[in-house]
This record gives sequence, C-alpha cells and structure tokens, in this order.
Amino acid sequence: MLDRDRLVACLPKCELHIHIEGSLEPEMVFALARRNAIRLPWDSVEALRRAYAFGSLQDFLDVYYVGMSVLVTEQDFYDLAFAYLKRAHADNVVHVEMFFDPQGHTSRGIAFDTVVNGLSRACTEARETLGIRASLIMCFLRHLDEDDAQRTLDAALAHRDRIVGVGLDSSEKGNPPEKFSRVFARARDAGFALFAHAGEEGPPAYVWQALDVLGVARVDHGNRALEDAVLVSRLARDRVPLTVCPLSNLRLRVVDDLTHHPLRHMMEKDLVVTVNSDDPAYFGGYVNDNFTAVARARDKKLKPGEYQGGVSTVSNLGM
Ligand code: ADE
Ligand code: ZN
Repeated sequence: MLDRDRLVACLPKCELHIHIEGSLEPEMVFALARRNAIRLPWDSVEALRRAYAFGSLQDFLDVYYVGMSVLVTEQDFYDLAFAYLKRAHADNVVHVEMFFDPQGHTSRGIAFDTVVNGLSRACTEARETLGIRASLIMCFLRHLDEDDAQRTLDAALAHRDRIVGVGLDSSEKGNPPEKFSRVFARARDAGFALFAHAGEEGPPAYVWQALDVLGVARVDHGNRALEDAVLVSRLARDRVPLTVCPLSNLRLRVVDDLTHHPLRHMMEKDLVVTVNSDDPAYFGGYVNDNFTAVARARDKKLKPGEYQGGVSTVSNLGM
C-alpha cells in the first residue's frame, strides 16, 4: 500500500453524504430477495452488476429503486445499516450522517416506523459496539409532489428524536428546490436541520434556490455551482459545505474522467468541501476509495516532481 493510501486509511473521517439504500450490495439484494420472496428482474448477482452501467442519474435511480424493493422488515433495515456502519468503521469513519428515502418504502406499503426502527437500532448498536456515531437524515424524493413530502414529514414528526434532518434527492432536472419550499419551511419550524442535493445535474439556479428558498445548511454535490462566480463567492463567504462524491460523479457521467474532477478547483476557490461515497455499492467504492481515487487521478495529471502540496488535508494527499 502506498504511504498516501495508508494515510487515507488511518485518518479519522466523517461521511456526510451516504444513501443507506445505496450501500445495498448485490449479494445482499439477492439474500434479502430470497428471505422476503421478492422477484427481481435480474437472475444473478453478475446480471445485476452488469446493470451498473449508467449514462445518467436517472439510469442509476431506475436500478436503485428496484434494488431497495427487497427491504421489507425492520430486520432488513437493521441489517443494511449495520453492514454499512461496520464497513465504514473499517475505513476509520467515526461520524456518519446517513440519508434514507422513506417514500421509496412507504410507496410499497412498508410502514414508516418499520424503516426508522430498523435504521435507528443499527445506529444505536453501532455506537455501542463499534464506537461510530451515526444519525439519520430523511430525504424527500423530488420527483414526487410536495403533498407526498408533507405526508412524509407528518410521519417523521413522531420520530423527531431519531431523525436529525431532512434532505432532498432523486431526479434533479425539472424538479427545482422551490417545489418543496413549504415542506422545508415546516421542517425548519419542527427543528430539523436542512440539506438538499443541488447542482449535481441541475443548473446553478437550483443551488441558489437550495440556499435562499429552502435555507439549507449544506449542499449535496454542488458541482455545477462552479459555473456561477457569484454563487461560488456566496458559498465561500458563508462557509456552506459541499458534500462531494467523486466516484459517483464518475459513474453518473457528471465528470468524464477523475482527472477532470472539480474538487481541487473547489478548494482553490476557498470552498468548504468534504469527500463522500453517495451510493458505494453502486459506484465502486466506499469513502477511502473515493479519497484514493481522486488522489491517484491527481498524480496522473502532475508531471514527475511537480507535487503540489497544499494547506488542507485533501491537498496533502496530492489532490
Ligand atoms: N439518491 C441516491 N443517490 C442519489 C444521487 N446521487 N443523486 C440524487 N438522488 C440520489
Ligand atoms: Zn446523493
């Protein structure tokens, strides 16, 4: 192992952008399908892996929602989250803020309580047995309407002590943050922290709306914010973190090559950036893999001897 990879492995890390349903490995998809007698459109783990050739976010989501249909019981949600937390612990992740998509389950007749009970039990046990701190952020699916999000928020109010925040995910294009202004206002009044995916595929205007209409504390992805210099200054001035997901961006064709990934550029613009895995089972790597992949891509770009160490941790990894 390179010294740099060893450094990545032993640094304590936070993961702030992980969809727990996106940590569902293909082997677990098939094990849970057997356990719950669910029929899948793929006949083997290999066939499912072959479906992981995505041309866009929507291509991925089409597989992701079918994959999560194997989650039925509280134990399934527990097993999923505990397996991820064990894997994150092995990467020396010490703090996780975990997204989940309740509407991907309630729309199939699974009770909201079943989902939250299983996930939160895994978070509690992981804290006690592994020492990893984990909390839950409930995302609204932006391809659904605001009334559906409002009903989901109603259900979440009974679990206010076990859900720290609300987020916004799923198909970005054509579903601007402003579509959810009222439900985010209610979530704020109820005391939830606010987050939203913006600028992954959608335009800089969606990042502005996430900030000014929804009032988010963090922007998930935010890549396309770089197209708007005024927006970049605003994000830098207000120290709004971007949760960047390099391998996700590569697999979903947000970037064509990691040597073109904007992480370094974001740091040069004084943006607060974090590195995360997004949907690690689908995108070929957990959080350490994301750090090492961007660092390797940076090595490829530099000529021999042209090391550009910087002040931040990521710069020191050769980004
Ligand atoms: N849901 C799971 N992963 C997502 C992503 N990368 N973007 C939007 N919604 C998602
Ligand atoms: Zn995401």
